[in-house]
Amino acid sequence: MIRAALARRLEAAAAAVDLGLSPAEQALVLAEGLLSRPFVSLHLISETYTARLALLLALDLGWESRLRAGATLEELLVGFHSQSRLPATWMLAFLTEEGCLEHRDERWYLHELPALENDLATLRELAEAEAPGHLQNLELLDAVRQKVPPYFTKGRRGEELLFDLGTYPLWLDYFRNENLIYRTNNLFAFAALQSGLHKGCRILELGGGAGSFAQFLARKGGEMGLLESIAEYRFTDVAPAFLRRAQRGLKELAPGLPLTFARVDLNKPLDDQGFKAETFDAILGVNVLHVAKDLQATLRDLRGHLAPGGRLVLGECLKADLARPIYLEFAFQFMSGFTDVLLDAELRPTCGFLTPEAWVKALRAAGYREVMEMPKVRAIMDRWEFFNVGAFSATV
Ligand SMILES: C[S@@+](CC[C@H](N)C(=O)[O-])C[C@H]1O[C@@H](n2cnc3c(N)ncnc32)[C@H](O)[C@@H]1O
Repeated sequence: MIRAALARRLEAAAAAVDLGLSPAEQALVLAEGLLSRPFVSLHLISETYTARLALLLALDLGWESRLRAGATLEELLVGFHSQSRLPATWMLAFLTEEGCLEHRDERWYLHELPALENDLATLRELAEAEAPGHLQNLELLDAVRQKVPPYFTKGRRGEELLFDLGTYPLWLDYFRNENLIYRTNNLFAFAALQSGLHKGCRILELGGGAGSFAQFLARKGGEMGLLESIAEYRFTDVAPAFLRRAQRGLKELAPGLPLTFARVDLNKPLDDQGFKAETFDAILGVNVLHVAKDLQATLRDLRGHLAPGGRLVLGECLKADLARPIYLEFAFQFMSGFTDVLLDAELRPTCGFLTPEAWVKALRAAGYREVMEMPKVRAIMDRWEFFNVGAFSATV
């Protein structure tokens, strides 16, 4: 049954051929294997896989009998740590969206329990057949389900549970260009950065993490003869472990990039971290800026450190609708860096990933002038509801 449902969705996705990309965008996207059948399959499989895991997690937490009888959020939360409210709310909404629960009169109902372990095995087989070598996406999701129960039962921190020694390598495996799902983020950020590169330009990367963007830039920029323009590439991250790792290995993995390194926390003014105003021609972050505690303050601070004519480039995971959960949020519900942000009804309506329109609005409100989107995400989302990535470039 699960095979047939996926085959139907794949067929429907394949029928939507015109994605409104320009010829240059289309060429870049095709060259990197994005929007291809393996890419679409992986997203669809991961979404269903996450729904099955979220349901298993609900069973692990002992919710089955309550859900079968119909339960409110308050009833489900009895006996759990108070921090459980946010991920529990997300799980219920996601499971309802995926057709696993019914939501009626403030209660959630479980009518039918799918053959969960069986479905997971089938989905893994399908992933192996459709996108060989990409099981790391599913393994990371498995780890989230296994590790998070103490978040609910003991009030343990998500960061501790999900970045332990066993899980850390799974994240490293995920944030790689070899991972078709993750490579998209870097590709669009690269496209947004590319036209802003000029002789002698200085670039600051925030939250560089495992260095996948720097590697992408070295490879693609090398092929296109763009690297000679870059005078300095300042790789930064807040986490000393990522920084040390990059200092040890990135020069070899990103040849041709004039790398320098620094520890930078995007939640602190750059002036306080040794940076002068108007220093950089480009500041970029891939999958990073959504963790800013006070997004407006960070965006404004970054603007002040861009040289005249400079640009901010953001690669972000995007949502079609702020009120609707997407599978990529599952792990992040447990991380305070993702959830603990300053909200503002106009400019930061929810924590976590935003819509393309919300980013454009936030960037304009922070004083950026030309705000460009790469690609035109809304047009693609309207056809492919699973499409959830894009980049922005915004000039000072
Ligand atoms: C999703 S990863 C991004 C991966 C990376 N850009 C890449 O291309 O592989 C998020 C990164 O943001 C970093 N980060 C989290 N909070 C941060 C903060 N307050 N300031 C700077 N970086 C932060 C994390 O340490 C992590 O490396």
